[in-house]
Amino acid sequence: MTKKKLYVETYGCQMNVVDSEVVVAILQQQDYEVTDRMDKADLILVNTCSIRENAEQKVNQRIREFGRQKKKNVNLVVGVIGCMAELLKDRLLEEERSVDLVIGPDAYRQLPELLQEVDNGQKGINTILSLEETYADVSPVRLDKNHVSSFVSIMRGCNNFCAYCVVPFTRGRERSRDPETIEREVRELYEKGYREVTLLGQNVNSYHWEEAAPGAVKHSGNQSFGNEKDNKKNPAVLHFEDLLERIASIAPDLRIRFATSHPKDLSDRLLQTMAKHPNLCRSIHLPVQSGSTAVLKRMKRGYTRKMYEERVRSIRKYLPEATISTDIITGFCGETEEEHRETLDLMKWAGFDFAYMFKYSERPGTYAAKKYVDDVPDTVKRRRLNEIIQLQGEMSLESKKQDAGKEFEVLAEGPSKKSPDDLVGRTSQNKVVVFGANGLKPGHYVHVRVTGCTSATLFGEVIG
Ligand code: SAH
Ligand code: SF4
Ligand code: F3S
Repeated sequence: MTKKKLYVETYGCQMNVVDSEVVVAILQQQDYEVTDRMDKADLILVNTCSIRENAEQKVNQRIREFGRQKKKNVNLVVGVIGCMAELLKDRLLEEERSVDLVIGPDAYRQLPELLQEVDNGQKGINTILSLEETYADVSPVRLDKNHVSSFVSIMRGCNNFCAYCVVPFTRGRERSRDPETIEREVRELYEKGYREVTLLGQNVNSYHWEEAAPGAVKHSGNQSFGNEKDNKKNPAVLHFEDLLERIASIAPDLRIRFATSHPKDLSDRLLQTMAKHPNLCRSIHLPVQSGSTAVLKRMKRGYTRKMYEERVRSIRKYLPEATISTDIITGFCGETEEEHRETLDLMKWAGFDFAYMFKYSERPGTYAAKKYVDDVPDTVKRRRLNEIIQLQGEMSLESKKQDAGKEFEVLAEGPSKKSPDDLVGRTSQNKVVVFGANGLKPGHYVHVRVTGCTSATLFGEVIG
């Protein structure tokens, strides 16, 4: 029997990348195989993101395109999954006639039944969020090209409710995944030849697993279990640091990264754990969002500028060779010129190696949408964003220039886009390096001396 063809498009964060791989795993059981040709598909799934308005607009265009495809193939099934499905179920069902399936991030196990409903001439809809689902037992079917670096989800959801953010509404409550299954998945990746994993969660520092006593109910997520001292005495409670130790010990030549760290929860103990294991990569993604304490308070981030600076100092103390990257939102409700300058000032002080920078986009249902006025004019948001991007360009270049003449161990990841004779890899600090292939293959470690750079890339020569 010929298999049915599944075409998947993924938008949004790394979490969605893994979720698409989970969905493929579930559908492979139903005799689907992946195609990269939309025109050959029996089923199109678009895994969506709601984080900013423009993320949604992009997907809306794609849905129209899938609708046109459906006119050519009347049997084609089109599904919207992920965060937009969760948030905009009603609009999608009312306005997008070509959409047959609407499935939220916690309902992917229902795909077979929902496809059956579509077969029966109905729409397949499930956007129920779960307090427990982590897809712990599903082995994601990897869709990456190089088979060197992969993502592993260690938790889902978010309890932080930052004032601007839609994620707690699209992904539901925070819950942690069984560490046994995480370790097993990482081991399997290593055995298949992968040499880098990135552990994923919206706030990995609050990873929390408590082993259930026989017959008892298991707890996961960031609940309160009494004071720290008691937790340390109890070996059955596992924190993020403990999980990292376990994963780092799998193989010395397996690199471990993680994202995202929340500044309010990044502990010295974590930094000390990293310092002990050279394969825990020397780069920390620590989204600051703003350099102004007043803005951070309006954002409900749970830390002040001073507290953020203190975290940066700790990173420098325990991991002097580490790079720090960040996320910044500009033009948040009520942001004054002075508050904007505080962000520029913090960026200069911190010397971020890299930053994702965004214009504030109001999201329905969030605290900010309900309580604040989105009062910074778009022209001002744009100007401020440009100033931030410009400054970060200078900081990134500065950070790369410091590496001139230095030697790094680089994990080769794949061919360079610009030249077939070159490979691209990254240093432990997460800096991209281009170097001569010289018969080396993706997955190989290589020593490289840095000979030049741009703000985004190091150029190097292989040594030894
Ligand atoms: N859990 C992560 C980030 C998830 S979203 C954390 O807390 O850091 C990724 C980034 O998108 C955020 O860090 C923020 O910078 C940006 N973002 C989130 N909501 C946004 C909004 N409404 N407008 C603009 N940027 C937003
Ligand atoms: Fe959104 Fe804040 Fe949760 Fe990050 S920590 S996902 S920014 S609510
Ligand atoms: Fe977007 Fe959902 Fe990720 S809103 S950023 S895909 S959690």
